[in-house]
Amino acid sequence: MAKSSTYVCSACGAAHKKWAGRCETCGEWNSITQEDVLSAGPKGQTLGAAKGLKVELSDLTSKDAPLVRSLFGIDELDRVLGGGLVPASAILVGGDPGIGKSTLLLQAAAAFARKGKKVLYVSGEEASSQIRMRAERLNLTDAPVKLAAETNLRDILTTLESERPDLVIIDSIQTMWADHVGSAPGSVSQVRAVAHELTTFAKRRGISVILVGHVTKDGQIAGPRVIEHMVDTVLYFEGERGHQFRILRAVKNRFGPADEIGVFEMTGAGLKQVTNPSALFLSERDKPASGSVVFAGIEGTRPVLVEIQALVAKSPLATPRRTVVGWDSGRLAMILAVLEARCGISFGGMDVYLNIAGGIKISEPAADLAVAAALISAKQDHALPADSVVFGEVSLSGALRPISRPENRLKEAEKLGFSSAYAPSRMKTIAKTGIDVHKVGDLAEFIELCFGQLDD
Ligand code: TYD
Ligand code: MG
Repeated sequence: MAKSSTYVCSACGAAHKKWAGRCETCGEWNSITQEDVLSAGPKGQTLGAAKGLKVELSDLTSKDAPLVRSLFGIDELDRVLGGGLVPASAILVGGDPGIGKSTLLLQAAAAFARKGKKVLYVSGEEASSQIRMRAERLNLTDAPVKLAAETNLRDILTTLESERPDLVIIDSIQTMWADHVGSAPGSVSQVRAVAHELTTFAKRRGISVILVGHVTKDGQIAGPRVIEHMVDTVLYFEGERGHQFRILRAVKNRFGPADEIGVFEMTGAGLKQVTNPSALFLSERDKPASGSVVFAGIEGTRPVLVEIQALVAKSPLATPRRTVVGWDSGRLAMILAVLEARCGISFGGMDVYLNIAGGIKISEPAADLAVAAALISAKQDHALPADSVVFGEVSLSGALRPISRPENRLKEAEKLGFSSAYAPSRMKTIAKTGIDVHKVGDLAEFIELCFGQLDD
């Protein structure tokens, strides 16, 4: 095998001919490192020598690929996976260090083992005694999970061959190394090689595999994005350090809907499921204040109510601040521009802060109207009625566009004690709920209805 050097980005895995400060593919800074690569594969093999494959879709029977899912018994996790674990599937769980990945997976391993499944938990970060200490804290010491503290891929594969578990958890992929790859553990070539060998080996033997991947910003170790394409399902475990809420989000799922979320709360004794996230996200809400608006959103298959907070203040800076937490800053710029151009409400010379309470991130365009409402409410110091929710997408013309599943949003709002809603009028007829729906055609009409004539 020939050996050569190349430069690879540890964030996205792109290869470059020479070193650069910034990766041209993903735009990350300081993420390019030099790595040795082995050009594998037998030399001089001719086409004639290779074996031809003959497979027809009609030859496959459902017996060849049984898709009987197994439940962990942790509802929030099972739902994010699309209804439990598919046999022989490969799952990547990414997240910042310290967010709770090992805690979640140890709890999942224990729950699975208690259902009579064979689970092997391989840790490259902690000694068996440390994992045991964690298990004691989580009250899981009686669960029949097999533990191994190991980093060598060859040893892990040998163990898998003899143990034949239903599920193996590798914590984390960045600590594992394959001895036929020259570079250090955590490098792009190692992470790729280990992930590839583990997933193909596990698939052949009918073992499901969960890989844990740390997200890093400094480029020292390869990020989980490098192996996203090799696995069936990619989950990210997110949350703010200061908050106890953790969100498990499916970003790719061959066996279920992407964008599904599971909500957990980190407590002194591990992660607890949050079955009613709306109540949790709204629980810290004070009495109605200007700048605070409740958005009725949908995350995955589930409606979730969240509070959107805005603050607008006179700016001492030449270029006023635009600070966003939990939403897209480009989208905020768009809403500010639409408010100025279509409704004559200017935020020039003012700092604008926007925050989604509870540490959740929102990506739905349906939040546009709620964001606009929060901004105007903050600027005018005029609170919206405390019992109302808002949803609708804002187009560049200022018109409100219909959004998906209004009934689910309204039902969730009704369940949590809200009694009115502001929604786009161009929506198909909405089935009757206990909520009084104010239908509005565009932003100007919404402003008139909620805030009256503005003297701006
Ligand atoms: P961990 O699962 O080790 O994170 P990761 O594997 O993603 O790096 O979680 C570590 C954090 O969780 C740590 O700050 C302590 C906290 N924690 C609790 O609050 N309660 C618990 O029961 C456990 C086990 C950890
Ligand atoms: Mg860990």
